[in-house]
Order: sequence, then structure tokens, then C-alpha cells
Amino acid sequence: MSKPAVERYYYHAILCCGKQCEPEGDRSLFHYLKQRIAEEGLESGENVVRANRAGCLGVCEQGPIMVVYPDGVWYYNLNRENIDQIIEEHFRQGKIVESLAFHVAGG
Ligand code: FES
Repeated sequence: MSKPAVERYYYHAILCCGKQCEPEGDRSLFHYLKQRIAEEGLESGENVVRANRAGCLGVCEQGPIMVVYPDGVWYYNLNRENIDQIIEEHFRQGKIVESLAFHVAGG
């Protein structure tokens, strides 16, 4: 049996679209994240970002929540402005946005 193939990516951003994080259920913040990734040219190149949505990530307070790998950073209280900041500082510059991070895997 051959292994599944996946396109190369560097960052994996997993945004919670569970009921506590997105009560409207329209996935508008996820669509915004995908849109901004495309606008910033992060669908290709060195820092390719793969964005996926998730159901509840188990941390329902102060959402929306997003986890970013390979750094294992958990972000909270996300809105469009905060997404823009993460795109610029984390995905472009490789710096964790400390003011929005509440946990780092293994840290
Ligand atoms: S609904 Fe988002 S962490 Fe639970």
C-alpha cells in the first residue's frame, strides 16, 4: 500500500470552528484566515501555511482558539485583527505572538 501524499507546507494552522468558538456557525473567521493567507502569498513559497478547521479543541473559554504547528502554539481570543497579527508576526517573521498565546506544546 502506498502512503498518502500531501503538498509541502511549513505551518499548519488549525482553527476551532466548534460551537463555543464560533456560535454563528458560518465559519467566517476560518474563511477570513484562508483569504488572508492567499492575499499574503502564503499558499506557496518558504513559509507555506496550511489552514484547516477543527471541531472543539477542548479549550472553549476565550475562543476562538487556533493551534499552530510546528511550534505547537495555542492562540486564543481570535478575531480578524488578531489573525492579521499572527499572519504578519508568526507566519511571516517566525515570531510567536506572545500576547495571544496561552500554551506552547512541550513548553
Ligand atoms: S469550541 Fe473551540 S475549543 Fe471548544
